[in-house]
Amino acid sequence: MRKHVKGNVSWVGYIDWELESFHGDDYSIMNGSSQNAYLIEEEKTVLVDTVWTPHRFDFVENLKREIDLDKIDFIIANHGECDHSGALTALMAKIPETPIYCTANAVKSLEGQYGKRGWNFNVVKTGDSLEIGGGKKLVFVEMRMLHWPDSMAAYMTGDNILFSNDAFGQHFAVEELFNDKADQCLLYKEALKYFVNILNPFAPMLTKKLSELGGMNLDIDIIAPSHGAIWRENPMQIVEKYALWANAYQENQITVFYDTMWEGTAKIAHRIAEEISRQSPETVVKVFNIAKSDKNETMTEVFKSKAIAVGSPTVGNSILSSVAGWIEFLKQLKFKNKKAAAFGCYGWSGESVKILAQLLKDAGFSVIDESIRSLWNPNDEVFAQVPALVAGLLGASAPGEA
Ligand code: FEO
Repeated sequence: MRKHVKGNVSWVGYIDWELESFHGDDYSIMNGSSQNAYLIEEEKTVLVDTVWTPHRFDFVENLKREIDLDKIDFIIANHGECDHSGALTALMAKIPETPIYCTANAVKSLEGQYGKRGWNFNVVKTGDSLEIGGGKKLVFVEMRMLHWPDSMAAYMTGDNILFSNDAFGQHFAVEELFNDKADQCLLYKEALKYFVNILNPFAPMLTKKLSELGGMNLDIDIIAPSHGAIWRENPMQIVEKYALWANAYQENQITVFYDTMWEGTAKIAHRIAEEISRQSPETVVKVFNIAKSDKNETMTEVFKSKAIAVGSPTVGNSILSSVAGWIEFLKQLKFKNKKAAAFGCYGWSGESVKILAQLLKDAGFSVIDESIRSLWNPNDEVFAQVPALVAGLLGASAPGEA
């Protein structure tokens, strides 16, 4: 069923209240999601994006109930990833001659996924436009690496709508469609989680693109992303947030992450947390057991932190596999301007702290010299090392030290 967006623009996507994960199981979904597709019915009828492959037949059937498919003049494929292009195969089987407007890289990704089907591709670049009647046009903006090489946005003049695709989206189901109708806490939380886990690796490109978009002097009344709520009320709020987040963002937070075998490493983690609060009461402190926490949610906490402490006991001359997998994902997200410290217990060989420190360096963190390496369970002598480690994370000398 279509939902009215503005003027002659409707939402014709799919709201997925039951989705639990995305990108395979690499992104957790806590509050549903949506794949937003849009129908523009000016003198020309334009479909902007489609939905994910499993919903392709329902999408085409629903669209048929709204319009005669033969009336679609143009299809805009802002991005080739299958959550937005997945219904093209079913749709193009019905209207095989319809021109598809997309970037040169999108031709590669679409043909790479679905094979060469003889679709009528029309390659566009930044600044190219398409007249759609009523004095309105779609102006295309390449969004390379935000977050695929093929990504693109389309700006509709007259109604001043930016169809931004993944940028500014959230994995968040909002039946009422618009940001002003959504739960504001969840909206912010999910927009941030999406930015951290999907877009942060491309933050330098994003900063340049925001500047380029600003230079185009587009009047933007609505930002219509391909996931989650449509930004109708103060749409520039999310652009301002992206500019902030893309610039090595941090809050006054330090977060402690660990996994533990027999609670020794857990005890050090909690002692570190207590000491942060003691030395710096204004600093927000959080503690997560990596094995028992959601990976994507913890990455949002890393993003907000100015420093992290990561702990693992030594096992098999290395670290726990939960921590190893977590740090691999941490590295992918290319966080900037954050300190880190390593800690952990051991019984005989004791490599975990050295390995953790190296992995954190490889992930782009400034690893402080102070670490805690506890032979067997931590005792008073081990806990006595905590203030210096915390002082290192806070960027100050430990109380009583020069
Ligand atoms: Fe929502 Fe990159 O696809």
